[in-house]
Amino acid sequence: MKKSTLFAALLLSPVVVLAADPDNGKELYDETYFEREINGELRDDVTCASCHEPAFYTRSDRLATSYKNLEQAWVQGCNDTMAVGWFPDEVADVAAYLNETYYKFPKE
Ligand code: HEC
Repeated sequence: MKKSTLFAALLLSPVVVLAADPDNGKELYDETYFEREINGELRDDVTCASCHEPAFYTRSDRLATSYKNLEQAWVQGCNDTMAVGWFPDEVADVAAYLNETYYKFPKE
């Protein structure tokens, strides 16, 4: 392959839309640490699980209403509120993980 062709291929590759990756989402969910005040104490080792037990996602009055709502309202919402800093593809991966593990909404 000519060097210029390879370069063009590399430039174009991020445009390819990959399906959300639940395994990466699980890693992000478990291993992203951020700062947050919890019970009056500022901590720098907070994770999503600090506030959410697994049972939280399967309770009968849970708030997420669809796959899209889970991703765009809730995972994105906690990402924003906590200033976690995940990019949209990372939010999508975490939503895929939570959906596959707990919510089981049909994919749209
Ligand atoms: C400081 C506590 C806190 C942390 C940390 C936190 N959340 Fe939340 N989360 C909340 C609160 C509060 C709600 C809204 C619950 C309610 O109103 O009943 C919520 C709601 C949600 C919901 C919707 C649950 C439902 O009922 O369907 C999801 C999904 C969620 N969070 C994901 C995350 C993810 C992913 C992270 C990690 C980035 C995270 N949260 C970190 C406090 C937190």
